[in-house]
Amino acid sequence: MNMQKAWLYEEYGPKEVLKLGDFPVPTPRHDQLLVQVRAAALNPIDFKRRQRALFPSDFPVVPGCDMAGVVVAKGGGITKFNIGDEVYGNIQDFNAEGNLKQLGTLAQFIIVEENLVAMKPKNISFEEAASLPLAVQTAIEGFITAGFKQGQTIFIVGGAGGVGTLVVQLAKHLYGASQVVATTSTPKVEFVKNLGADKVVDYTTTRYEEIEEKYDFLYDTIGDCKNSFVVAKDDAPIVVITWPPSHSRATYSSLTVRGEILEELRPYLESGKLKAVIDPTGPYNFTDVIEAFRYLETGRARGKVVISPFPLQHLPSSILCESNNNLPPEMVSLKMPVH
Ligand SMILES: NC(=O)c1ccc[n+]([C@@H]2O[C@H](COP(=O)([O-])OP(=O)(O)OC[C@H]3O[C@@H](n4cnc5c(N)ncnc54)[C@H](OP(=O)(O)O)[C@@H]3O)[C@@H](O)[C@H]2O)c1
Repeated sequence: MNMQKAWLYEEYGPKEVLKLGDFPVPTPRHDQLLVQVRAAALNPIDFKRRQRALFPSDFPVVPGCDMAGVVVAKGGGITKFNIGDEVYGNIQDFNAEGNLKQLGTLAQFIIVEENLVAMKPKNISFEEAASLPLAVQTAIEGFITAGFKQGQTIFIVGGAGGVGTLVVQLAKHLYGASQVVATTSTPKVEFVKNLGADKVVDYTTTRYEEIEEKYDFLYDTIGDCKNSFVVAKDDAPIVVITWPPSHSRATYSSLTVRGEILEELRPYLESGKLKAVIDPTGPYNFTDVIEAFRYLETGRARGKVVISPFPLQHLPSSILCESNNNLPPEMVSLKMPVH
């Protein structure tokens, strides 16, 4: 059996429960790809899920949703991708029971269904690609939830985080908002302006009540709508992405995990209208995952916390071909003891 390195935890708790273990390289089912991970990104869901039983998980859990990498093997039913393709995606689709997979992207090799990934645009790096999927799928869903229309104004609470940096860009460059206003703290005002915000509100010096203008859409990425709702017009949608919503007018929006969404973004990524935003403290080396989580968990990330490089390992040629294995990959993988 081929072994790989993966970050994992066997109990809920703080970042210290994470350890680097030896794990079997999973075998793709007929509808799955085996991808050698070149870069991954962290999301708050990764540590929220680790801290408590948010989604009941069998241990060990390999955390991580986002990745970019190279297809090294594929099941017989794969039609869209070939070995050697550079792909990216959020691999954590919910299964029928509403649970997340046990095997995430903080591993050298991952398995993923082909409908969850897209070809990486050639003009962006693995790091940039890995930073996008979960956050951009979330950001887009919020506009859909609101029924946002070109020419409307938008007020974004939290313009500097993983999701917020993309909401600002999407509003300005893809959805045609007539005015984009976003909040952040003093050191990040210029940064958020440079993403495309027409106006940035420094929340350390300005309270929502002091803002006179009212907006067509309030997009709250922070979960502050019990206070921020005052900037929304009376009939304006208020969308939040944190659970539970803290105001009765707010609608909770959750991401849809699909590779197609990334495919639709390809022209905007190729033209540079939409840019990946990688937190400048990173990318963090694969061996520095605990430090990367420590930083993300401060809640101060500027864009996305990215993990790269991953250690490269060559697999024997016997597995670098189509696989007809129909066993659920988790069953193959989790039989092995973890060190
Ligand atoms: N519903 C879904 O499908 C979904 C999907 C993805 C994420 N989420 C949730 O959405 C939230 C945001 O995710 P994320 O990845 O963007 O997190 P993140 O990257 O950790 O967000 C960090 C940013 O939040 C900003 N921030 C913190 N408090 C703020 C405040 N009071 N006002 C304005 N900005 C503030 C910080 O800027 P400053 O330093 O300037 O404060 C920082 O830049 C998380 O709770 C996450 O779990 C939900």
